[in-house]
Amino acid sequence: MASLALSWSSTATGLPSQPLFSIKPPHSSTYTTRTRRCTWSCKANNGGQNEKHSPQNVETSQGKLDRRNLLLGMGGLYGAAANLVSDRSPALATPITSPDLSKCSTGTNLNTQQPLDVNCCPPVSKEIIDYKLPPVGKMRFRPAAHLAGEDYYAKFEKAVELMKALPPEDPRNFMQQANVHCAYCNLTYQQTGDPKLKLQIHNCWHFFPWHRWYLYFFERILGKLIDDPTFGLPFWNWDNPDGMIMPEVFARKHSPLFDARRNTSHLPPALADLAYSSKSPTNPKKIIPNNLTVMYGEMVRNVSKLEDFYGAKYVVGTAPDPGPGSVERGSHMALHGWVGENTPTGEDMGNFYSTARDPIFYSHHTNVDRLWTVWRGLRGPKPKDFPDSDWLDADFLFYDENAQLVRVKVVDTLDNEKMGYVYQDVDLPWLKNRPLARVKKSKAASSSGAPAAETVFPVKLNKVVKVLVKRPKKSRSKKDKEKEEELLVIEGIEVDTAKFVKFDVFVNDEDDKPDELDKAEYAGCYSQVPHKNSTKVKTKIRLG
Ligand code: C2O
Repeated sequence: MASLALSWSSTATGLPSQPLFSIKPPHSSTYTTRTRRCTWSCKANNGGQNEKHSPQNVETSQGKLDRRNLLLGMGGLYGAAANLVSDRSPALATPITSPDLSKCSTGTNLNTQQPLDVNCCPPVSKEIIDYKLPPVGKMRFRPAAHLAGEDYYAKFEKAVELMKALPPEDPRNFMQQANVHCAYCNLTYQQTGDPKLKLQIHNCWHFFPWHRWYLYFFERILGKLIDDPTFGLPFWNWDNPDGMIMPEVFARKHSPLFDARRNTSHLPPALADLAYSSKSPTNPKKIIPNNLTVMYGEMVRNVSKLEDFYGAKYVVGTAPDPGPGSVERGSHMALHGWVGENTPTGEDMGNFYSTARDPIFYSHHTNVDRLWTVWRGLRGPKPKDFPDSDWLDADFLFYDENAQLVRVKVVDTLDNEKMGYVYQDVDLPWLKNRPLARVKKSKAASSSGAPAAETVFPVKLNKVVKVLVKRPKKSRSKKDKEKEEELLVIEGIEVDTAKFVKFDVFVNDEDDKPDELDKAEYAGCYSQVPHKNSTKVKTKIRLG
């Protein structure tokens, strides 16, 4: 249960740009949310200390809504939504650092107060070495999974087989590797520096760097087992129509790459649906155009600010899940749900505690990692990385290919070539997929008959919700647009982390067809994969 306060925010720096409250917004846009499988609901979010900015709360049909959220929303009055999430952060933030492995717990199911029935804590080791990237010799080559040949797969299968055959207590054993993901995701670790909080590397700006390190060691372990220092993981090229089918070798029953816990209707030749939600299946004819538009949105359209791509700031004192970036919450999450069993808990891929037990996880994430590299290449002269030490100096623990526990930093992940691997060059067909508006904006808004946002939220999202949102400025010059992007910010999204949740957002849409994501009116989505332990999180999304 939670609140949705939504707004147009157009501050480029996070600081107030204009006293927008004095502008009479003369123009509204229609804002539509479509629930395709929405199991969450929202109610008023009373943060507590609102007196200064919000003398009164707004009474709505759903109850009281914290007026501060609304005001903040309306044009970034007091410093834009980005500041809301860091309410908890100490004044002098410090980067997330490695957890104390000896304090790893099995975690608790917060709904039932029962312990998790799996233990994903890694072996404890006394000696931790600060990892130095080894000098780059011959590059590891990561091929597109649909283009790699039988010889390559023979090696890959052999390596995974050997990894599965390692002693169960060896930290390089396949199950131990899968548990590394569970431990960093299912709240088994305390946050060093603020032990009241649990550590979570998803839904925040550590998503890309942490997973890059995770794959890096997984790959090196495989390479060592087959004595091939150039071995590179294959990427499941699901952003390209040629690679959208699950790579066939993963579906071979007797392959070490096979996993029985998958949605059987999504095995080859089904096309991966990057906007997947199990409640309303996408018309198969729409999958390819939708996927390309989803990719365009995540990689180009909705990511002018770093945090839009990477996810929200996460430092010591930040509660888990401050907010995911575009790829994390979109295509990445959709495919987790698409591959996992069609059950409420979605094992293996569709549930974070079990997801890395499916060998396809590593090819899925290798593509996510590749998209990070691609995105950096598309940025041109714009900044590609957060300059903050809070990001760069964050560190994590992994076991390397020699079973040595090592401490690694975000700063070393910025260049995959320095990490010794490159990607096969493939087409980026989605780059051409900039959708064009079909309906005049003013017409969509005026004919919608939708109520004003502030009279509707908070709202339980169990059907299509349409509202008018005031924009900070009626018309913006080309220069304005270059200087700062206009964003739709949806904050106070409260979801149960044990459920698969997704909703789509459309702007100025007319016809409400839920699977037409390949049109300009589609702004983006929120989605999450279930975690084993149920807990309520509050999060937000920003859509360009
Ligand atoms: Cu760590 Cu795709 O999740």
